[in-house]
Amino acid sequence: MFFQPTLLLLSLIAPAALGHEHYGTTLYPRAEGGAAAPKFGYHGLDGPLNWYSLDKDANELCAKGTHQSPINVAGSACAATPSSLSIKIPAAPHGAELENLGTTVDVTTNGTLLNAGKKSDLVQFHFHTPSEHAVDGKYYPMEVHFVFQAADASISVVGFLIELGPLDPLLGAVLAGLPYIPFTGNVTHTKPLDFTALEKHFASSGTYQYAGSLTTPPCSEGVSWTLSCKPLSVDVAGYEAITDLIKFNARYTQNNEGVNLLEHSALEQVLARIN
Ligand SMILES: *[C@@H]1O[C@H](CO)[C@@H](O)[C@H](O)[C@H]1NC(C)=O
Ligand SMILES: *[C@@H]1O[C@H](CO)[C@@H](O)[C@H](O)[C@H]1NC(C)=O
Repeated sequence: MFFQPTLLLLSLIAPAALGHEHYGTTLYPRAEGGAAAPKFGYHGLDGPLNWYSLDKDANELCAKGTHQSPINVAGSACAATPSSLSIKIPAAPHGAELENLGTTVDVTTNGTLLNAGKKSDLVQFHFHTPSEHAVDGKYYPMEVHFVFQAADASISVVGFLIELGPLDPLLGAVLAGLPYIPFTGNVTHTKPLDFTALEKHFASSGTYQYAGSLTTPPCSEGVSWTLSCKPLSVDVAGYEAITDLIKFNARYTQNNEGVNLLEHSALEQVLARIN
């Protein structure tokens, strides 16, 4: 089933495992004086196929979780955004903090997600290139994730796919800061941010919703995912600027039918025979 209304509890979060998807939440507080280099990556032995082996206790769900993200969503699952589902992000007239986390860049600003009566606070938003989610098998050049946390510590992520086209002014105001943060831990400010158009886009474009996980270690489940059905757009210069800095940082799409792909991989079967 595509939409899983029952969210699993976020019970297996290990603070020692660094990831960027939940950076700034109570589960992984922001570091004073800039982020340290992450303990995982996207290539070779640091990459998503091996996240479990980097820390078998903390990252167990990366290999064994059965409600993992990202996924390939079915375009037909797009539903009109209900009035009980909304984002409210106040303008940041003086800009907001933009930090290079090594595997992505994130912006910390305030905001709220209301979902069926539950309120969550915006912690940060960050970028992936290319997109992590696909729609009917199609990937996009970028994806932005707005990470929210509720008082009960549960995490919700609102994602927007990003296609090539005219530069969205909000994205432009963020990407303008990239030249000032070339190294991990570098911090600058964005240009003034206005989220009015984004709130309207979210309300009017329909959404995909499912229960999944963090897309970075420790791959914790119980994450409530909402993807806007309609992509935002970025121009070629903006796309080049962000891929030059954060390179490739997308986890492979998971099976959304309750199995972990790694448990079905040839390697896992070989290991099972050896052990
Ligand atoms: C977020 O809210 C806090 C507390 O009200 C405020 O100090 C801060 O400036 C706000 N951040 C932004 C980017 O507007
Ligand atoms: C950016 O990070 C580098 C490497 O840690 C450091 O040498 C440099 O001083 C930082 N620049 C700023 C403006 O913080």
